Amino acid sequence: MAAFLRCLIPLVLAYLVSFTAAKENSILLDESSCAGRCPGEKDEGIAGECSCAKTCMKNLDCCEDYFKICHGGVIPTCKGMCLVGRTPDRPCDCSPECIEADDCCPDYNEQCLMETVSDQELKEMTESLLFWEDASLWKELDINLREQTNDTTCDAKPNLSNLLRFKNPPRFSPTYQNLILLYNDFNPNITEEEKVDIKKINEQGFFQSSLLDTRSMKAVANFLIHKKFISKEIVFPRKFQTMWFDTYKRSSKAAPYSSSGFEHVFLGEIEPKKETIGFHNWFYLMNEQNERTFNYHGHFNYLELNKKASVISINFDWKDHCKTRSSMFIGTSPEFEFALYTLCWFTRPGQLCPVVLGGKAMSIQTYVHTNQYGTQFVAAAYPVLSDSTAIPTSSKLILGFALIMIYFRQG
Ligand SMILES: *[C@@H]1O[C@H](CO)[C@@H](O)[C@H](O)[C@H]1NC(C)=O
Ligand SMILES: *[C@@H]1O[C@H](CO)[C@@H](O)[C@H](O)[C@H]1NC(C)=O
Ligand SMILES: *[C@@H]1O[C@H](CO)[C@@H](O)[C@H](O)[C@H]1NC(C)=O
Repeated sequence: MAAFLRCLIPLVLAYLVSFTAAKENSILLDESSCAGRCPGEKDEGIAGECSCAKTCMKNLDCCEDYFKICHGGVIPTCKGMCLVGRTPDRPCDCSPECIEADDCCPDYNEQCLMETVSDQELKEMTESLLFWEDASLWKELDINLREQTNDTTCDAKPNLSNLLRFKNPPRFSPTYQNLILLYNDFNPNITEEEKVDIKKINEQGFFQSSLLDTRSMKAVANFLIHKKFISKEIVFPRKFQTMWFDTYKRSSKAAPYSSSGFEHVFLGEIEPKKETIGFHNWFYLMNEQNERTFNYHGHFNYLELNKKASVISINFDWKDHCKTRSSMFIGTSPEFEFALYTLCWFTRPGQLCPVVLGGKAMSIQTYVHTNQYGTQFVAAAYPVLSDSTAIPTSSKLILGFALIMIYFRQG
């Protein structure tokens, strides 16, 4: 039943985000092995419910150990393979001919088609994202920082008064309303597989459609399409769902399908016998304060962004598991954070992505997780505060800022 539902996720979500070609990631996994069934071998082909034939990449029904057994562990990625021409011996191809032959590796578009994005463009784009933010929630927030801390152990007694509080009950836009619905849908324990049901699939679909309908997400999608990170417009919702919401096995100790980029960044996860990981969202932090599972221990850094938002790095415990240090924005909308992190994940994967927000220079760190099929996911994404943060507002940035607005035009 669980496996059946998992196969349904892409289909239902694709329907909800009005997108039709939902085939790319609905890979059926099976315990069956490809030993003795690889292309050219005697029993080539179907092993139980999955396939070891050459066509399995295309049909998306490869057995879990297909690449390990049949291709010596070669991950079907285009990383470093864009310029080598046709490679018939590999499980998939990264030459321009693969489009016609329909055997491109899953990351062909991102690896081989993209254009370069300069640091300057990233700074202009990210400053524009903050420009479009409505600061009303941030202005309603009472931020009770208290003392600075040096402690990364959680041994100090937590101060049980809250870090964040709304002065008046605020009104939440649809993205917040749909986000709240997801809060009980995930299991933070990474040694347990996520359980999927139709209600959760629908809730994720509504949240994704409301995000993709915002000006910030549309601007980032346009930008990534313009820069050829995304081949065409209709691919973006599918890619967005995969990178943020499809589940994966984060580490060797984790269960299959136990993590997702969304769960890690916008909620939090717990490692076995270890600490809290992820947890980079202020709105979830407030939810967990109300649930009395979050205890603030102190902050390392705090920075205001032009009276519209702030960034903080803190020490806390959650569900009795310590997070030594976590940084996050405060007061920013889900669409702002998704847009910013998505932009940096594509353009500076696994690196520090230079951004400017409210005239302050800082970085976004993203990490990429690649599974055995070469599918890539968000492993982590969060702001990094450096010490020298104030930059002079150069006329160059203002000019670029005007040019970058092109991506924010609708339609
Ligand atoms: C942080 O640590 C340094 C050196 O360990 C110490 O001098 C300083 O007083 C500490 N600051 C706080 C706020 O605890
Ligand atoms: C905890 O926070 C409250 C509210 O800011 C403050 O009055 C109190 O002194 C703090 N206690 C400790 C031990 O830091
Ligand atoms: C996580 O799940 C495993 C397996 O079900 C269990 O043994 C462990 O105690 C759980 N850890 C936490 C922190 O709940």
